[in-house]
Amino acid sequence: MGSRRPSALDGPMTGVGSRRPSLASRRPSIDPTKLVPMDKVSHVSGTDDFNVVFVGAGNIMFGSDEGPWNHSFRFEHKLGPRLKVVALIDPAVDRATAVLAKKCETFVRSAYENTRVFRNLEEFIKNLSKKDTPRAFVIGTPPMFRGTMQSGRDVELQIMKHFPGVALFVEKPISTGPVGEIEEAFKVAKTIRESGTLCSVGYMLRYLKAVQMMKQIIDENNLTVMATIARYACAYEAIAKPDWWNKSKSAGPIIEQGTHFCDLSRYFGGEVDMATVVAHSLEWDENAGHLSKMQIDETAIAPEDRIPRVTSATWKYESGAVGNFIHVIALQGHDYSCELEVYADGYQLKLVNPYVQPVLHVRKPGNDHEEIHRFPDDDPFFSEISVWIDNIEDIEEDPETSQILSSYEDACKTYALTWAIREASELSRHKKFAKPSA
Ligand SMILES: NC(=O)c1ccc[n+]([C@@H]2O[C@H](COP(=O)([O-])OP(=O)(O)OC[C@H]3O[C@@H](n4cnc5c(N)ncnc54)[C@H](O)[C@@H]3O)[C@@H](O)[C@H]2O)c1
Repeated sequence: MGSRRPSALDGPMTGVGSRRPSLASRRPSIDPTKLVPMDKVSHVSGTDDFNVVFVGAGNIMFGSDEGPWNHSFRFEHKLGPRLKVVALIDPAVDRATAVLAKKCETFVRSAYENTRVFRNLEEFIKNLSKKDTPRAFVIGTPPMFRGTMQSGRDVELQIMKHFPGVALFVEKPISTGPVGEIEEAFKVAKTIRESGTLCSVGYMLRYLKAVQMMKQIIDENNLTVMATIARYACAYEAIAKPDWWNKSKSAGPIIEQGTHFCDLSRYFGGEVDMATVVAHSLEWDENAGHLSKMQIDETAIAPEDRIPRVTSATWKYESGAVGNFIHVIALQGHDYSCELEVYADGYQLKLVNPYVQPVLHVRKPGNDHEEIHRFPDDDPFFSEISVWIDNIEDIEEDPETSQILSSYEDACKTYALTWAIREASELSRHKKFAKPSA
């Protein structure tokens, strides 16, 4: 355990940044035995307040019926009475006020009873008092409002300007906007890297125990990945948010949701040769693309903004390995059906059901038998928050502190891959429907 980083109240709002580059020496994976459930975690000792600003008062921050995400809940467990949410920033003031009122009715009241609601970051900065100086910002806004250098969509740059050295947690995908803006996201990444800002992006599946066991097997046996095969079949009946079904709002299911498995594929396969990405889609207006249990009114969405039902892509990694990914919007009910297979000489590592109840099937050289590993009570949402806070607190840079597994720059590369898949599938569709020239 490292000693705590001094409170921001001890001095100016700066100070963590310059130390960060040495963290590159930490291991790029986490010993799976160190990923422990919330009730078994050992805290960095301390009693002082840990001031956090939440940007966005929506589902990712406060939970919903759609899935297990709920950052506030994990912060409460990680930091206990030290947690002080000094501000909740959201233009939907009523929503923000309502979630705070609910929290204040419970035993976690002390974290929220003094939380102030602001419409935007500028309001927060104008009204900042020294005792509310944050140590960390958690950004859970819709991605269209971040990840660029444009005013109003540059919250990361604004936070770094006004709170240099303060840690950032940014939800995935790092942005959504026209494909031409990807370069801006990489510029934001450069600013984060060069300023030494401690930043983690919400690709929580990297923190699954099963995923870290896969990494461990690959590392310990010095394996070279030959192929990644990923399938992401969501339960569309449970997706009731109209924006999700609208490409002009959420950029489509690969960029918004499939991104998790594109990211995991990259985590195992390495850098993708973007020029090799090819893809096909089954679209909403093709006979096989009809869905009978959509919870939203798709006729309210412009035809050109409606999303594909199936997208299948393949690519080469720079290593020569091959990546394969299919995203399917077909299942009803609630649970998703997702699998990732990673192949290396003599090995098949198959991750099944990572969202609900992860199971890892391992086939090794020597015989055809598959070992099966189960991971009850694993909570990657907790692990990603826990590792990020440990890094903020770890002033002495203890080599045993687990490394943040998803940097902003790396997340930009996942974002670029998802855009390449979307563009490749749209290109195939246009080719199919293009009339031969006379
Ligand atoms: N890692 C995961 O599994 C996971 C799960 C759910 C959501 N997410 C991600 O979290 C992000 C938010 O999703 P959500 O489901 O919470 O959305 P949501 O619509 O439920 O909430 C977003 C909130 O942000 C607010 N907002 C909009 N513009 C803002 C701005 N400029 N500043 C501050 N707040 C603003 C909205 O008013 C809303 O209250 C998305 O990027 C999404 O992909 C990730």
